[in-house]
Amino acid sequence: MGSNREVIRNKIRGYCEDFEIDNDGYKRIMNLLEHEMDKGLGKETNAAATIKMFPTYVRSLPDGSEEGNFLALDLGGTNFRVLLITLHGGEVKMESKIYLIPQYIMQGSGNQLFDHLADCCAKFMKAHAISHLSLPLGFTFSFPCKQHGIASASLQTWTKGFKCAGVEGEDVVRMFHEAVKRRKDIDITCVAILNDTVGTLMSCAHDDHNCEIGLILGTGTNACYMEKLDNVELWDGDDKEPKQVIINTEWGAFGDNKCLDWFRTPYDKEVDEFSLNGGKQVYEKMISGMYMGEIARLVILKLTQEGLMFGGEVSEELETRQRFYTKYISEIESDDEDEFRNTKQVLEEMGIETFTIEDCRNVRYVCEQVSTRAAYLASAGIAVLLNKISKPEITVAVDGSLYKFHPKFHDRMVDKISTLVNPGIKFKLMVSHDGSGRGAAMVAAAVAGIHFKNDVIVSDS
Ligand code: GLC
Repeated sequence: MGSNREVIRNKIRGYCEDFEIDNDGYKRIMNLLEHEMDKGLGKETNAAATIKMFPTYVRSLPDGSEEGNFLALDLGGTNFRVLLITLHGGEVKMESKIYLIPQYIMQGSGNQLFDHLADCCAKFMKAHAISHLSLPLGFTFSFPCKQHGIASASLQTWTKGFKCAGVEGEDVVRMFHEAVKRRKDIDITCVAILNDTVGTLMSCAHDDHNCEIGLILGTGTNACYMEKLDNVELWDGDDKEPKQVIINTEWGAFGDNKCLDWFRTPYDKEVDEFSLNGGKQVYEKMISGMYMGEIARLVILKLTQEGLMFGGEVSEELETRQRFYTKYISEIESDDEDEFRNTKQVLEEMGIETFTIEDCRNVRYVCEQVSTRAAYLASAGIAVLLNKISKPEITVAVDGSLYKFHPKFHDRMVDKISTLVNPGIKFKLMVSHDGSGRGAAMVAAAVAGIHFKNDVIVSDS
C-alpha cells in the first residue's frame, strides 16, 4: 500500500484526468476544426457555420514612407487605449494612454459605450493639444464582426466581458462616428476597423515576410491567416492582385454546435453556465485568460471539498467566482519547485490559512493540467492553419497576456505543434509587441495613403 501522500496524489490525478488527451484526441479536434473552418469559408454553408471565417479586406502590407499624424483605438481586452502616431522623416513615434472602461459601461447601452470612447478620445486629444486637428483613425475592435469594407463592420455578437445593448447587428464605425458628432469638440474619421489578430499579423509581417498567421492568447483567443481569394467563396471585393485576403477565423466559437462536448469537463460546463454568453465561445472558454483561472479555481475547490487539499478547509475567496486570476497560474508555474514562493503568496491571497508544501505541489499540478490543455488546444488550432497554408516556412505572430506572461506556454506550443503539423512545414512562433496599436496604425496609414518603413517607437503613459 502506498503512503497517504501517494493515495491523495492518485485521487487528485483522477479528478484531473479529463484534462489529458493523447495526440489522437488532438488530431480528432483538428479534423473537426478544419471541417468547421471549411464550412465558414463556403458560400452555401457559412450561414449555419459556427466559425465564421470573416474576410477582413486587408490584403497586403504597407511600405514606403510619408508624413502625417493619425489616431488608433484599441478596444477588446482588459483595457481601452487611445494612441497617437506621428510619422516624420521616416520615423514613427507612438504615444498612448490606457483608459478604464467601468463594468457598468461594459454591460450598459451601446450609445453609452461609444460616448465613453469618444470622450476618452477628446480627453486624449486635449492632453496632446491636437483637438483642433482633423485626424484619420484606425480602430482595433476585437470582437466578431462581419466586414462590409475596410471601414464598415457590423458586430455579430459580444464576447469576453462585454454586453452592451443595441450594438449587435449594427455598424460599429457608424455608431462611433455618431458619438463623435454628438459632442462637436473633435473631428475624427475612422478610416479602418480591424481585429486584434489582424493587427498582430500586420505588425509582424512588416519585419518577417513568412508571417501569415496572427494569434491572440489573452483575455480571449482568436486567430487570423492569409488565404487565397480562390478559397474564399464569400469574397465580394475586387479580385486584383494580390489574390489573397486575411481571414479573421473567430475560432473562439469552435464547439458552439456541441461538436467538442465529448471533450469538455464538468468544470468547463460550469464556467460556461456562469458566463455572460452561455453556450457560446466554447473553445475560447477552454483556452483564454478570462476563463483559465476560473477553471483552476473550480478544480481546487472540488479537491478541497473532497478533503484532498488544505485539510478540507475552504476559504471565502476560494468559493468566489472569478477570484482565482489567470495570472496566478503564470505565477505558480514560474515558481522554483523547492521554494514555492509565489504559490504560497497566491494561497495567502486566496485566504487559505494553513497549507503544506504538498498542497503547493498539488495546486501547481492542477494549474499545469489546465494550462497545458489550453496550450495544446491552441496548438491544434495553429497546426490546422499551418497545414491549410502549407508553405515550407511559416511564421505565427502571437500577442496577448497569457502567451506573454505564462512561463511555459510558448515551449509547450512549439512541442505540440511539432507533433501535429504536416511534415515539410517549418514554423516559428514570434511574439508581436503591441500588435493591436501598431497594426491599427499600419492599416489606417495604408488607407490614408501614408506609408512607412521604419520601426515604430511605442511609449505608454
Ligand atoms: C474574442 C473576440 C475576437 C478577438 C479575441 C482576442 O475571441 O471575439 O474577436 O480576436 O477575443 O481578443
